[in-house]
Amino acid sequence: MELLESPAAMSEWAAREKATGKTIGFVPTMGALHRGHEALILRATELSDSVVVSIFVNRLQFNVASDYDKYPRPIEQDLEICQRLGVAAVYAPTNDSMYPDDFDTVVSPGELAKPMEGSARPGHFIGMATVVAKLFNATKADVAIFGEKDYQQLAIVRSMVTDLNMGIEIVGYPTVRESDGLALSSRNQRLAPNHRLAAGVIPTALQAAKERFERGERDSRILIEMVNTIICREDSARIDYVEIADVRSLQSVVDIKQECVLAVAVFFGDVRLIDNIVLKP
Ligand code: PAF
Repeated sequence: MELLESPAAMSEWAAREKATGKTIGFVPTMGALHRGHEALILRATELSDSVVVSIFVNRLQFNVASDYDKYPRPIEQDLEICQRLGVAAVYAPTNDSMYPDDFDTVVSPGELAKPMEGSARPGHFIGMATVVAKLFNATKADVAIFGEKDYQQLAIVRSMVTDLNMGIEIVGYPTVRESDGLALSSRNQRLAPNHRLAAGVIPTALQAAKERFERGERDSRILIEMVNTIICREDSARIDYVEIADVRSLQSVVDIKQECVLAVAVFFGDVRLIDNIVLKP
């Protein structure tokens, strides 16, 4: 397995692979790999000849400095996981090689980036789209796999790839969950044990709303209120937002007639977790 630490080294390796006729499957990550990432890597293996995993904690997409500082970085463990899964190359660029002092260009997504995570985390999607564009360019990937837990991120990446004619196939992968339903996330490692227990309320609330929706409730205000009430039963939970939005435009919906995403962001201590569920009429 190759370890590539700069965009130039990554591009050279990718060009060599492509010269031999291989396709490249790409899994972008910020490290602290878990079973969710493993599932993305296995999917990339099915869809391409050579899999590249990037490990880069992208400071440009963090709007809170302490969240960036505290983000877990178990690089040795991550490399072992990649090795075990047969990853061809790990792309772990240095900060300086990604953002030299004269770095001056960003990718700024439009309307899709305004609601939910966009309004709760100003600048986050500019940082995300910029780094993903840089990662796509360096890895020369044919296909990239993204988890559906970051629903809005996936929608923005799909739109960026179309709008900027990036010619890379984007594949979404269903959220992988713990036995209590909590969505796997690198941030889960930072939860205090009591917060980890309490966080199980997130999938419980989403599932309860989905069941009520399936029994015919179409008023999003009632479903949102229900999710709020269930999550608030945990004293340690602090809700950032609960939103029901159209799956394509991501604009809020009151009377649900189309496919919608019910998305939440909840703090436990200083750890912010997101999750979502799709509501199909
Ligand atoms: O989802 C993530 O882990 C990050 O947002 C990504 C796509 C690796 C970009 O930094």
